Amino acid sequence: MTYENILVFREGAVGRVQLNRPQALNALNSALMTELVDAFREFDRDPEIRCLLLHGNERAFGAGADIKEMADMGAIDMYSRDHISLWDEVARIRTPIVAAVSGYCLGGALELAMICDIIVASETAKFGQPEINIGVLPGAGGTQRLTRAVGKSLAMEMVLTGRMLSADEARAAGLVSRVVPVEAYLSEAQRLAAEIASKSPVALRLAKEAVLQSFESGLAGGLAYERRLFALAFASEDQKEGMQAFAAKRQPEWKGR
Ligand code: CAA
Repeated sequence: MTYENILVFREGAVGRVQLNRPQALNALNSALMTELVDAFREFDRDPEIRCLLLHGNERAFGAGADIKEMADMGAIDMYSRDHISLWDEVARIRTPIVAAVSGYCLGGALELAMICDIIVASETAKFGQPEINIGVLPGAGGTQRLTRAVGKSLAMEMVLTGRMLSADEARAAGLVSRVVPVEAYLSEAQRLAAEIASKSPVALRLAKEAVLQSFESGLAGGLAYERRLFALAFASEDQKEGMQAFAAKRQPEWKGR
């Protein structure tokens, strides 16, 4: 597939994707989301790639789903076209994903960033679910994932008023893991992605799956799920290598199996 709305880079064991519709503040139309899912799936199948990095440009990570594409659609168009299932496809990616956010991160773009596993924000980042201002509500997971990320009261305020959070507010609310100056946000996210990519890819995927399970089940069920994945890790060569390397005081060499 050739890409017109994203740029794709391979940097060692990190697969990096840049959203690239700057003229529309990276509004997420069907073409862009289809390309993104395709690129992520290809990286996810590649044993050399151990972490993904998603970002936009300094002005915008993304301004949400493409309003102009949706404006004239009816309910059955929305239902049949099922554009939003492309966000679900991103959620099926098993490789860890870091999102680097600068500028606007709104609507469907915030919903996309929240599907990523870690958000690194520049000081200029603005996070919001402004759908209320165009007569709708978040439709790609915002009412659910934002509430889990920042709690009911702040999520309600954002969803019911459309107010944007600053990077510092987002950090205080637990939506992002760190805030860095705009000049450094991408390099900091690249550094973080490279650090993740230096770990055992088997353990990374099991760990991602276990953390995500905490959103799906109660504590007892989640603990049982974690226990099974922990035991499964002992079927990998990487577990033997990691523990032997620790005992021998040397760096492990991961096999990815
Ligand atoms: N869809 C389509 N085009 C968009 C867009 C979007 N979500 N956001 C911005 N654009 C376009 C603008 O129409 C404009 O295009 P033209 O130059 O051709 O007019 C260009 O990007 C630049 O935008 P602005 O001129 O508006 O830039 P600004 O700096 O004045 O304002 C902004 C920036 C506050 C982000 C404003 O663009 C804005 O409010 N955008 C819409 C945000 C929004 O409502 N997002 C939610 C979308 S719905 C959704 O995401 C549903 C879901 O849950 C899946």
